[in-house]
Amino acid sequence: PLVGTTEMFKKAYEGHYAIGAFNVNNMEIIQGIMEAAKEENSPVILQASEGARNYAGQEYIVGLVKIALQDYPEIPTALHLDHGSSYEICKACIDGGFSSVMYDGSKHPYEENVRITKQIVGYAHDKGVVVEAELGRLAGVEDLVSVDAKDAIFTDPDQAAEFVELTGCDSLAIAIGTSHGAYKYKGDPYLDYDRLEKVGKLLPDYPIVLHGASTVIPEFVEQCNAYGGKVLGAKGVPEDMLRKAATMAVCKINIDTDIRLAMTSAIRKALAEDPSNFDPRGYLKPAREAVKQMVMHKIEAVLGSANTI
Ligand code: G3H
Ligand code: 13P
Ligand code: ZN
Ligand code: NA
Repeated sequence: PLVGTTEMFKKAYEGHYAIGAFNVNNMEIIQGIMEAAKEENSPVILQASEGARNYAGQEYIVGLVKIALQDYPEIPTALHLDHGSSYEICKACIDGGFSSVMYDGSKHPYEENVRITKQIVGYAHDKGVVVEAELGRLAGVEDLVSVDAKDAIFTDPDQAAEFVELTGCDSLAIAIGTSHGAYKYKGDPYLDYDRLEKVGKLLPDYPIVLHGASTVIPEFVEQCNAYGGKVLGAKGVPEDMLRKAATMAVCKINIDTDIRLAMTSAIRKALAEDPSNFDPRGYLKPAREAVKQMVMHKIEAVLGSANTI
């Protein structure tokens, strides 16, 4: 059924695992993820960004997810807005049937982030919808040589605890070294586990969210490049590092880039291997299967959420 994230996060926290939050933009992605969740007997979060709403249309996404929920009534599934940038967009998703929204006020000054997050929490909670907020900056982590450099962009644990207290948000995305997209690190991958642990101590039993948490699975990058692609210098968060974070306070791990790579590498291969084909089903079917296999692998190797329903 369609659910919020409260129950799944509580179980994930206590069980030392995390729930996968997968970005959805079309039917094949939704189908691939749901097939994987079914095979693994795992709860799942389907999340739509503002870009997804612009691409597919909010009502198409909600409609597709409704059909998926009918197909898989046994899978606890949250429909979540990813990186909502305003009160209005969060409200539109809450009114449109989402069970969870993120308000990302991380680019705003702290006080404004608190103010708008609080306003959205008020509206959402009235409607039984949960809210994820964000504190700290994810982008542009280049050379984190000094402690000062980390302190300047990573989430401050004391401020995180105060923020949750002030806003009443249900989960919090923090910056500890991840970033969005396929180019996360110039040098060695890095996650600030000490900071995560401090947040966990100051906010006991509270679910933490990790954005920018794709591994940038090397096989997909190689396959893209083997079939005419040009994905160069891509690097993500290694699986063992994510697995460790999932055993800690991290209860939601966001994955979009690995879906993009799974689909595109499968489509490139299918098109190259059958150049005379021009039936979209010929390449979208393997793309959907690649999403399914990738999500199953995530659930087993990274999230640890298999057989938790
Ligand atoms: O955080 C960003 C997600 O990967 C969604 O990307 O805004 O291009 O849909 P998007
Ligand atoms: P990736 O780009 O690492 O997949 O992160 C996705 C994300 O954080 C969506 O909000
Ligand atoms: Zn994100
Ligand atoms: Na966890």
